Amino acid sequence: MTEYILVGAEDRVEARSNTIKLHGPDGFEGMRRAGRLAAEILDALVPHVVPGVTTQDIDDIVYRMTLDGGGTPATLGYRGYTKSCCTSINHVVCHGIPADKALKDGDIVNVDVTPILDGWHGDTSRMYLVGDVALKARKLVDVTYECLMLGLEQAKPGNRLGDISHAIQAHAEKHRYGVVRDFCGHGVGRLFHDSPEVVHAGRPGTGPELKPGMFFTVEPMINIGRAECKMLDDGWTAVTRDRSLSAQFEHSIGITETGHEVFTKSPKGLDKPPY
Ligand code: MF3
Ligand code: CO
Ligand code: CO
Repeated sequence: MTEYILVGAEDRVEARSNTIKLHGPDGFEGMRRAGRLAAEILDALVPHVVPGVTTQDIDDIVYRMTLDGGGTPATLGYRGYTKSCCTSINHVVCHGIPADKALKDGDIVNVDVTPILDGWHGDTSRMYLVGDVALKARKLVDVTYECLMLGLEQAKPGNRLGDISHAIQAHAEKHRYGVVRDFCGHGVGRLFHDSPEVVHAGRPGTGPELKPGMFFTVEPMINIGRAECKMLDDGWTAVTRDRSLSAQFEHSIGITETGHEVFTKSPKGLDKPPY
């Protein structure tokens, strides 16, 4: 049985538990502001993600913009992580660490940012095309974005989390792509990673029921090849076992009375490439 708890502005932040928080208007307002800052940062990166730029250059911009926006990067110091964003290139599935490594023509790269603003976490990521990208890679990026949006279409009261998972899996597998199982979406709010786990493959009608006030991310990772991942020796970088290309998009959303609100929508309409 899933348990739910109504939380208000005055409630202290509880450690992660199996109880799903249901937020009120103050939570929506907080997430709207944090999500907007996160989306503005990803918008601002567009002209910078070009051949020759390093992922450290990208991290520097994310750090500066987060602070200028009145926030702090949630990843900085998180479980020993020392950067302000994740930059995952080509066969890197997620949690690529920014470094002095230049992007090259034909790369695809995910940038994942999570500014904390007034205690609320805006968690979002998008794919960027570096220079001229092959059709095969562009198709993966398009289908991965479609997976996210088809999942979000199921995000409404009365549906279950499994309805989101199933919509994502069905679309990815129609294209013979692999859906990553090793990482999932998560409850979000005043905690970075909260209950529930949002898996990206599953059966319709299963899992917790969606209720107004639930905040969580949907962040499918889709591989051209097999779903299996392996972790590099740095303890963070996850790559595809078969070295096939991987793509990911992420939004933070809140369930409303009639559907959902996307907190991390691009103010400039730059939700997916080409930008
Ligand atoms: N932003 C990632 C997510 O979507 C988490 C990154 S944690 C880090 O949940 F430490 F790797 F940065
Ligand atoms: Co996330
Ligand atoms: Co993220």
